[in-house]
Amino acid sequence: MSNIGSYEERVKNFSWDIAKEVLDWKDGELLNIGAICSDRVCGMGKGSKPALIWEGFGGRSARYTFDDLKVYSNAFAGFLREQGMEPGDRICIFMDKIPSLYFSFLGILKIGAIVQPLFSAFGEESLEVRLASAETKAILTTVKHVKKVRKIRERLPHLEKVVVVDGNPDRLKGDEIFFDVEKYPAIKEFDVYRSDSETPSVLHYTSGTTGQPKGALHVHNSIWGQALTANWVLDLRDDDIYWCTADPGWVTGTSYGIIGPWSLGVTQCVLDSGFTSARWYQFIQDNKVSVWYSAPTAIRALMKDGGELVKKYDLSSLRHLASVGEPLNPEAVIWSGEVFGGLKFHDTFWQTETGAIMISNYPGMEIKPGSMGKPFPGIEASVLDLETHEPLTEPGKVGLIAFRPGWPSMFRQYWKRPDIYRSKFVGAREDAMPDELRTDKSLWYVSGDRASIDADGYFWFVGRDDDVINTGGHLVGPFEIESALVEHEAIAEAAAVGKPDKVNMEVVKAFVTLKPGYEPSEELELDIMNFIRKKLSPLAMPQEIEYVEKLPKTRSGKIVRRYLRALEWGEEVGDLSTLSDE
Ligand code: PRX
Repeated sequence: MSNIGSYEERVKNFSWDIAKEVLDWKDGELLNIGAICSDRVCGMGKGSKPALIWEGFGGRSARYTFDDLKVYSNAFAGFLREQGMEPGDRICIFMDKIPSLYFSFLGILKIGAIVQPLFSAFGEESLEVRLASAETKAILTTVKHVKKVRKIRERLPHLEKVVVVDGNPDRLKGDEIFFDVEKYPAIKEFDVYRSDSETPSVLHYTSGTTGQPKGALHVHNSIWGQALTANWVLDLRDDDIYWCTADPGWVTGTSYGIIGPWSLGVTQCVLDSGFTSARWYQFIQDNKVSVWYSAPTAIRALMKDGGELVKKYDLSSLRHLASVGEPLNPEAVIWSGEVFGGLKFHDTFWQTETGAIMISNYPGMEIKPGSMGKPFPGIEASVLDLETHEPLTEPGKVGLIAFRPGWPSMFRQYWKRPDIYRSKFVGAREDAMPDELRTDKSLWYVSGDRASIDADGYFWFVGRDDDVINTGGHLVGPFEIESALVEHEAIAEAAAVGKPDKVNMEVVKAFVTLKPGYEPSEELELDIMNFIRKKLSPLAMPQEIEYVEKLPKTRSGKIVRRYLRALEWGEEVGDLSTLSDE
C-alpha cells in the first residue's frame, strides 16, 4: 500500500492509475468488487488476517478472517444463483449491521447482481416505495424485519424471493426461504461473474426535494475512487484497525464501511448496538481502533458527555479521525483535538451520487476548523454563480458546489430517471444520454449544496440549495414525509421542513392543517408522530407538529416550504411576492 504523500505533490502528479498501483492491480484481472474485497485479498496471502470484528447487542461478538469472508460470500453467491438470481437483478439487503449483511453484500456482487441496501429502521412504506421503484427481485432480511416485508409483499409483483437469514425456519410464512450461511456447504472457489468496469454494482436510494427517493446507480469501476480515497484521505494502512460507524443502508457504510477498507485488505470493526458515549469509547479501547470515520451528530453527542468521560478509557490506539455527512462545526474539531491527544476530526464532503470522498481535509494539510478542506487530487471542483452558473473566482463568494464529471466512482444514472439525472448537469443538452453526461468535461455536475472557497482554496459549506432535510447526517425528503402525513385520517395538508437541533443539526418539523371534525391536541400530535415513525422511519418522524389554519402557497398552489423553514431558522423570509394572498 503506498504512502499518502503531500497534498500538493499528489495534485501535481495525479492519475487514477495510481489506484491500481495501490491495489497492486494487473491489467486483465477480474474487476468485481465482491471478489476484490475477499478472494483477491486471500490470494495476496492475507486469508488468515481478521477482516471483520463484530459486536452486537447483549455482549454478542464474532470475528471473521478474509478466508471466512470469501467462503461466506461464496455461500450467499452460490445460494442466490441456485435461486435463479441473475446478473443485473436487484437484490435488497434489509437487516441490521449483522455479519450476514457484509457477506451477502459481497455475494450479490459476485453473481453480477445489483445490491440494493436499505436502512433496517425503514418502515413498510419507505421500504415499499424503494422496492417498487427498483423492481427488486429478492430481499434478504431477518426475523426482526421480515414482518414489514410481509405487509407489503402482495403489492410487489417483482419480489420473487423473501429470504430470512436468521431465527427459526419453522416460523417462516408462505414461500419465505430460510438461509443459514454457516450451514451452507462451503464453496472454496466460486465462479465469479465476469463483471467489467461498467457493470452495475450498488443501487442506493437517496432523497430529493420533489418526488419519491431516487436510486443512484453505481458500477464496479467505483472501486478505484473508493480504494484510493480510503488509502489517502482515511489514511488506511495494512496494520490498521478501522471503524466506520455508518450503516451500510447509507452510502458511507458501503463505500467506506465495506468496499474501501476491504479492497485494501484492512481489518475493520462493526458495532451493531445502540449509541452511548461510554459504549463507543469502550469499543475503541477493546479493539484498539486506530482509524475512526464518523459523523458530526455522533461527535456532538460525545461532546455533550464531556471530556472527563474520555479520560476513563485508553484510546491511545487512535491515529486518525475523519467525519462526514453534515457540517462539522469548528468547536467539534477543536474539542476532538483537546480530548483525543491532539487528533482532530478531518471533515470530508461527498454524496451518495459521488460514491467517494470529493472534498476533504487531507492528512498532513493544515486543518481550518469549520472548513471541508480541498478537492481530492484529480477532482476538479468549483462553486458556480447561483444565477449564471459560471464558476466564481472571487474568494468567499457563495455559489453551488460543482464537479467536473468523469471521476471513477461517479453514479451512472438515477434508476429509470434519465430526466432527473440530466437535470444535475449544468449545460447539458436536452437529449443527452447518461453515458454522455458522465464523461463530458465541458459540463458541471451540481451537488445541490452551497459553499464558498477562500483565498487558500479551502471550501466552506453554507447549506443545501434545496428543501432536503439533513437530520443527523441522514437525508430525508420532505415530499416523502408530506405524502405520508396526508395519509393520516386527520390531516388535510402538510409541509415538512428542517428545524434547528443542537445535536442532530436538523430535525423534522411538520406543519399541518386538519380535516373538518378534527381538533388539535397533544394526543393527536403523538399519534401522527407514531404514524410516520412506523410508516417511514424514526428519522423521518416529525419532532414537532404545528397545527395551522392554512399553509403558505404560491399562486399556483404549491406549498412554500422555504418560508416555513426560514421562520424556523430565524432567517430572512425573502421575496414573498410570489405567494398567494388568498
Ligand atoms: O448536503 C450535503 C451533506 O450530505 C449530503 C449528501 O448526503 P448523502 O447522499 O446521504 O451522503 C452522505 C454521506 C456521504 C450532501 O449533499 N454533507 C455530506 N458531507 C458533508 C455535508 N454537509 C456538510 N459538510 C460535509 N462534510
